[in-house]
Amino acid sequence: MQIIDGKSLSKKVQLSVKAEVEKLKREKNIVPGLAVIIVGNDPASHAYVSMKEKACKAVGFYSIAHKMPESITEDEIVQIITMMNNNPHIHGILVQLPLPKHIDTTKILEVIDPKKDVDGFHAYNVGRMVTNLDSFVACTPLGVMKMFDEYNIELEGKDVVVVGASNIVGKPMASLLLNRNATVTITHIYTKDLASHTKKADIIIVGVGVVNLIKEDMVKDGAVVIDIGINRLEDGSLVGDVDFKRVAPKCSYITPVPGGVGPMTIAMLLSNTLKATKEFGENL
Ligand code: GUN
Repeated sequence: MQIIDGKSLSKKVQLSVKAEVEKLKREKNIVPGLAVIIVGNDPASHAYVSMKEKACKAVGFYSIAHKMPESITEDEIVQIITMMNNNPHIHGILVQLPLPKHIDTTKILEVIDPKKDVDGFHAYNVGRMVTNLDSFVACTPLGVMKMFDEYNIELEGKDVVVVGASNIVGKPMASLLLNRNATVTITHIYTKDLASHTKKADIIIVGVGVVNLIKEDMVKDGAVVIDIGINRLEDGSLVGDVDFKRVAPKCSYITPVPGGVGPMTIAMLLSNTLKATKEFGENL
């Protein structure tokens, strides 16, 4: 069994982004800029955003965070995004999700200029990704693909079960795997018998936020298990969706929580922002 070390892989990505940022500054006088918009007081969302800001600083990006109150209107968010769309110092725009209930998330995401959509949530980029064209791809599934490639985990012809069908993880994850010729099953809350699917899988990818959802008897010997879940227990510790202690010995590869997929999400945000800058950034 081998642990997939997301922490060290993310550092490697971060170092390569940093080197490219220095080159961009030196040769073209361009500094990648990321704008983050966060609404409300959700502590987990604020924790993610401060990690993103810290990572931006570490690689030499310019970053601004628009921290807005829960009471903000849809029109006011649209105004901020429009401003960022028109700001030549900003190459990437990220709206931290979830948004409060009174805000139409799809409408907000569609306002982001697809050229600055470093989260890959705009329908333009989703459509391009599904058709296997160059696009911005959602950071978490992109980070998982990076892990497969780094550890030379073969995908072609493999039976992959994705547990969770969200727009930000499960659906893009499945599309990326299909583009690499895997046989993909997406399971979700209405799936009748989850174990009947996972037991047959060469690769299981789970991200639904349910502690110990994937148990030892649901995993076949030698499977690859990728845990995208992040759950905080009452004692303050972080765990994923997999019963790691019992499942790990059966696996060929497994990601830990923390230190697995989480750091990769942020590394891919940096990488996507660099991509946006290189492709669409103007020499000011
Ligand atoms: N909320 C949970 N994951 C994500 C993410 O990857 N991006 C954004 N913007 N919000 C999230």
